[in-house]
Amino acid sequence: MIFVTGGAGFIGANFILDWIAATGEPVVNLDSLTYAGNLENLAALKSDPRHIFIRGDIGDSARVDKLLAEHKPRAVINFAAESHVDRSIHGPEDFIQTNVLGTFRLLESVRGYWGVLPEAEKSAFRFLHVSTDEVYGSLSADDPPFAETKAFEPNSPYSASKAASDHLVRAWHHTYGLPVLTTNCSNNYGPCQFPEKLIPLIIANALAGKPLPIYGDGMNVRDWLYVSDHCAAIREVLARGRPGETYNIGGWNEMPNLEIVHTLCTLLDELAPNSLIPRRSSLITYVKDRPGHDRRYAIDARKIERELGWRPAETFETGIRKTVAWYLGNQPWVEHVTSGAYREWVDQNYGERA
Ligand code: NAD
Ligand code: TYD
Repeated sequence: MIFVTGGAGFIGANFILDWIAATGEPVVNLDSLTYAGNLENLAALKSDPRHIFIRGDIGDSARVDKLLAEHKPRAVINFAAESHVDRSIHGPEDFIQTNVLGTFRLLESVRGYWGVLPEAEKSAFRFLHVSTDEVYGSLSADDPPFAETKAFEPNSPYSASKAASDHLVRAWHHTYGLPVLTTNCSNNYGPCQFPEKLIPLIIANALAGKPLPIYGDGMNVRDWLYVSDHCAAIREVLARGRPGETYNIGGWNEMPNLEIVHTLCTLLDELAPNSLIPRRSSLITYVKDRPGHDRRYAIDARKIERELGWRPAETFETGIRKTVAWYLGNQPWVEHVTSGAYREWVDQNYGERA
């Protein structure tokens, strides 16, 4: 079996659903269920014995040591993290706690477990660390996209904490020989993404007839990837990636935020027409920019294609249509996650930007 951390969040839950469908191999899922973790994301596996959910923290060493010894996974995949840049600006400490200290403790637990495995299992074992392109910093319009050789230049508390975790993972390979793999992926979108991130937030606000907040001039560029393509890439890296290597994963799909928001408005006008708001783009509202807002991210994903044959299966057009359809078909999910705590966050983040 494999051991996944953070599997009740957006990407982790999509990964577990796709993994069980694709491989049938059981998964132990350790997640502390922060505001971003939601077992509803895994409702389809509720009575499936191939998914074992455990509520717990990656930084709880005694607990993790025990779980590894009990379940004997052949691989650990670390999704657990604090993941939202704006929250990291308001409160960086949780990011240091989970992304840096938590990853360190997880690495130590895994090293202890791996170190006493029989030789064949030891050499087959993998620790896969899921990271972000944001560790590389910000690009100008004419810079080449991020290659794996690009120096880290993180600019937000979130990206700095992820960069720190990537460095720890690298060091545990070089110093202790732990067979690690690291993936640095671009912005994901798709089902079950918490509506604090751009795409689900815009969908939720547009359906509710609320303002669609655009930070700064709306011309910041991100490289968007449909989540199931990210999950497929992780499966390839786990199966055939070379220990100690990092693999960039991206959608070959750079778009400015404003274009994303216009695309969503057009799709919602088509799929969920509302006579009171015939054109959702009329809700677009420019708000105060994010401090230190990275201008552009772009991924050079040639290494993973060359070495492992992975390319995204979805285009942005197909992926975004599926995503909008998912949110339209899962309004109770949105209502459940946009509870009291969510409204407090919206007041805090957007109140200041008005
Ligand atoms: P998310 O915030 O939706 O989910 C994170 C999950 O981790 C939640 O279920 C949460 O409960 C859990 N968690 C947090 N702290 C924990 C702890 N200390 N112990 C155990 N569980 C804990 O995040 P996501 O968007 O699914 O991202 C998953 C991973 O992928 C993160 O490492 C993130 O940095 C990385 N990533 C995300 C994106 C993106 O666009 N969302 C892109 C590239 C990389
Ligand atoms: P986000 O989804 O938070 O991802 P990240 O900052 O990790 O790339 O934001 C994506 C882009 O959208 C980023 O440039 C910030 C911008 N943005 C807005 O313009 N308005 C919003 O309300 C949010 C949440 C993000």
